[in-house]
Amino acid sequence: MTERLYARITGTGHCLPEKVLTNQDLEAFVDTSDQWIQERTGIRERRVVADGQTTCDLAEGAAKEAMQSAGLGPDDIDLLIVGTTTPDLIFPSTACLLQHRLGLSDGGAFDVNAACSGFVYALSIADQYIRSGSAKNILVVGAETLTRLLDWGDRQTCVLFGDGAGAVVLSADTSPGILSTHIHANGAHADLLKVDVGVSRGFLPNEPRAGIAVSMKGNEVFKVAVNTLGRIVDETLEANNIDRSELDWLIPHQANLRIIKATAKKLQMDMDQVIVTVDRHGNTSAASVPLALHEGITSGRIKRDQLLLLEAFGGGFTWASALLRY
Ligand code: ACO
Repeated sequence: MTERLYARITGTGHCLPEKVLTNQDLEAFVDTSDQWIQERTGIRERRVVADGQTTCDLAEGAAKEAMQSAGLGPDDIDLLIVGTTTPDLIFPSTACLLQHRLGLSDGGAFDVNAACSGFVYALSIADQYIRSGSAKNILVVGAETLTRLLDWGDRQTCVLFGDGAGAVVLSADTSPGILSTHIHANGAHADLLKVDVGVSRGFLPNEPRAGIAVSMKGNEVFKVAVNTLGRIVDETLEANNIDRSELDWLIPHQANLRIIKATAKKLQMDMDQVIVTVDRHGNTSAASVPLALHEGITSGRIKRDQLLLLEAFGGGFTWASALLRY
């Protein structure tokens, strides 16, 4: 009988732009205050790409570090998946650009666009390839340059986002590993969080101020996010028949500290069991979960064989989770 295969995390990596933009820096050109941003979101600062720096540049840094920590070279990677909403180009995909830069073999490479849930969606796809025996080592990256999509005149949105990339290598193993992944979407809420231009609709703004920028009805998104994340953590625990007390770590999407605290409260987890990076990174969309995971692991807090719950929520709406033994 062939043994069941699991996808195990064998390496992680990260890449953040050098430039730090603090809330005080924002006060100089946005009608906002450090106090408002910290009270409503928990964000103190975020990283911003330099002129000419792209999503693929950040993805490359994170991917190289993840491959190095897994002890794997370019020829060992069977498949590359990049979660991003801010690709370098319309096509080729950022994954194809990255594949070439990393010197990977000609295995598949593709992007996944699920906004802030992009990395967990990508992880879910990678998990299926490993479970089925179709791939042995998969590089999964979440990389974004959301600040390229901000209207700095829209204080409700521009203070929230930052740039960065995180990556993991998943390798086939006979011990767990990813236990389950869950992905969902509901396009009915598309208008609450969007960038309202595109290839087939056209790039000309519909409204005088619109431009190519994220628009979000933050208040309404907040309520849906809290309820939806509450439901998906229940679904994940039930699917694995485990009690919330068995969880060692929550690695949430980093959009807002109040949303993170609400999910932790639902799970009856102390905040010292939750990896938080939103204070220093802001919302880095698809990069936020792998950045938090990398930080939890490299800081020595997350240890081998501990049980981790990853969750994300984003534009679409999309939402996703993964339960795994590290
Ligand atoms: N500085 C100062 N005041 C501000 C700012 C700002 N940057 N932004 C808004 N305000 C004001 C508003 O004008 C409003 O003033 P009023 O009461 O006089 O009208 C007041 O602050 C309250 O505004 P709200 O929008 O009600 O504030 P809220 O507490 O809801 O916080 C926030 C806003 C932070 C956006 C929150 O709603 C949120 O985090 N939403 C969810 C974001 C999210 O999870 N997105 C999903 C992932 S993103 C992705 O997928 C790309």
